[in-house]
This record gives sequence, structure tokens and C-alpha cells, in this order.
Amino acid sequence: MKITVVGAGNVGATLAQRLVDRELANEVVLTDVVEGLPQGKGLDMLESSPVVGSDVRVAGANDYDATAGSDIIVITAGIARKPGMSRDDLLSTNAGVLKSVTEQVAPRSPKSIIVVVSNPLDVMVYVALKVSGFDRNRVIGMAGVLDTARFRSFIAAELNVSVEDVQAFVLGGHGDSMVPLVRYTSVAGIPLTELMPADKIEAMVKRTRQGGAEIVGLLKTGSAYYAPSAAVVQMVESMVKDKKRILPCSVYLQGEYGMKDVVIGVPVKLGRKGMEQVVEIKLTDSEKAELTKSAEDVKANMAKVKFS
Ligand code: NAI
Ligand code: 2OP
Repeated sequence: MKITVVGAGNVGATLAQRLVDRELANEVVLTDVVEGLPQGKGLDMLESSPVVGSDVRVAGANDYDATAGSDIIVITAGIARKPGMSRDDLLSTNAGVLKSVTEQVAPRSPKSIIVVVSNPLDVMVYVALKVSGFDRNRVIGMAGVLDTARFRSFIAAELNVSVEDVQAFVLGGHGDSMVPLVRYTSVAGIPLTELMPADKIEAMVKRTRQGGAEIVGLLKTGSAYYAPSAAVVQMVESMVKDKKRILPCSVYLQGEYGMKDVVIGVPVKLGRKGMEQVVEIKLTDSEKAELTKSAEDVKANMAKVKFS
């Protein structure tokens, strides 16, 4: 198992370290445009391996030849949000980055699964899908696991229960119109609506939608990376170990949920082949309307990307 992480910034480096610590690959390659950055961080991680007891071979590089033959490629390259910026403000810069990165990595690892992290997430998945020419099951975006983790952690703190017992799904695009599904949220099997008044739930839904901005506002110089890198690890682990977990991920829909030609977060089964199934859960009319609105927002941004 060889995993490449493109972008050795906050998310990429933290992710690489988590992959090394958990021995989720035999080899991890970290790449970046900044000279010395991936090499330095990669060497530092390698030197941590005797202490953490990891035999993962980790190395950094500026060129893409080192990535050849990867099984999974995680793209975290690009610019991150600063206070006052929305994820959509990153669109044109990061679309250029995604195009050039995908053009480099896809031919060198033609059988790989690409996991996209760069924002605006759903649009960047679309760019990687188009430029790589890969089947949609091998180009998957990380956002839903993060948004769901935020929702779950707020609920666990409010109810003073273990995060492990909180189940939830946040679907839709990774933006202000994301769709936390309260009806599918439970604590040890007990519906959330039986444990909390509606106004408290609504406040947590709102906080989840603004979860990324809340961290940006505190950090001031960048955006979240501990929870995002942990979220990628959960997806990678499900694929590496063929666990077939059902996780909310951004994928290209071809008729599921009544939508076509749009990338949006939905529950998918993740296994060794990547996205092995889009899991269609029943939605009420208002949930469906929210998901459709979120998809329309993504579609409007997808239309802004120029491929020539
Ligand atoms: P960062 O600024 O710490 O790291 C980005 C790295 O990408 C930098 O080291 C930079 O040199 C590198 N880079 C830029 N252009 C490149 C290129 N053409 N090739 C290779 N490397 C290149 O940013 P951070 O915090 O790591 O975030 C990375 C991206 O992930 C951002 O777009 C951010 O918005 C997004 N993000 C998405 C999340 C999600 O839920 N999908 C969660 C957190 C971050
Ligand atoms: C987040 O939600 C920045 O999209 C990133 O934290």
C-alpha cells in the first residue's frame, strides 16, 4: 500500500503523520511545490517512527516521479481560507492547482483512488474527476465525515455522553447549505429529537454549518486541520482495510437522489475499490429540497470552472 499526500501544509502534513502513526500504508510520499518542505517534514516523521513503532517508509519530494504507483492519492494542495473568505473564494486559484496536480499524479498512478480535500471541495472533486478521466468510484471528496464529526462532537458535549455513541449524517455540499440530517441522528440508538429540545438541535445544526468558519475565526491565519486530517484517515482506513464503511463523502451523482452531473455529499460505501455504492436513504420532501438547493449551489460553482 502506497499513499501519496499532495500538499505538505497543515492538513497534508498532519494527515501524513496520522497515516504513519497508524501504519495504514507501507509507504507514504508527501509532495509540495515549496522546496524542502515535504522533504523536511517527511524526514522528521521518519525519525519519529522508532518512537511510535511504525515501519512506514515516509519521504518527501517536490517532483511527481516519487508518487508513481500509488494506491491512494490525497490532494490537499492549494490555498486555505483566511477570516472573511468563504470556501468559494478559493475557487479559481485552487481549480488551477487541482488541474496541474491531477495532470501530474493520475498518469503516474493510473489505478489509484484520488481523495480530494482542497476547497471548494465538491467543485475540486469535479475538477479531479474530469482531468484524471478516472471512473467516479475512484475520485472521492472528504467533507461529510468532517462536518458529521463536528455535529457529533457538539451533541456529545451537550448531552455529556461518549462521542462514540453519537451517530449522524451531514450531507450536501461542503458549504453553508450543507444538510445535517436530524432525523437520522441518534445517541446509542435513541433519536436525538427525544433527547433534546428543537431549539437546541437547531443551534447545533447552525454551529455545524459554520464549523469551518468558527475555526478560521479563531486561528486567523488558516483553517482547520486536526479534524479534517482525522476525517481523511477514516476514509482511507475503510478503503485500505476494505471495511466497507458507510460514510458521507462527495461523489459524482448519476441519477441517485434524483440528481445527475453534480458532485455532492451523500452516504457511500467505501472499500478497496473506492466508492462501491451510493447508499440512497429515504428523505422527506423538506430534506430533499435542502439537498437539491445545496446541489444547485455546487452546480453554479462547477459551471465557473474552465477546462481549456
Ligand atoms: P496549507 O496552506 O497549510 O497547505 C497547502 C499546501 O499546498 C501548502 O504547503 C502549499 O505550498 C501547497 N501547494 C500549493 N500549490 C501546490 C501545488 N500546485 N502542488 C503541490 N502543493 C501545492 O492549507 P491546509 O490548511 O493544509 O488546507 C489545504 C486545503 O484543504 C485548502 O484548500 C483548504 O481549504 C482545504 N480544506 C478542506 C477541508 C475539507 O473538509 N474538505 C478541511 C480543511 C481544509
Ligand atoms: C473546514 O470546514 C476549511 O473546509 C474547511 O474546516
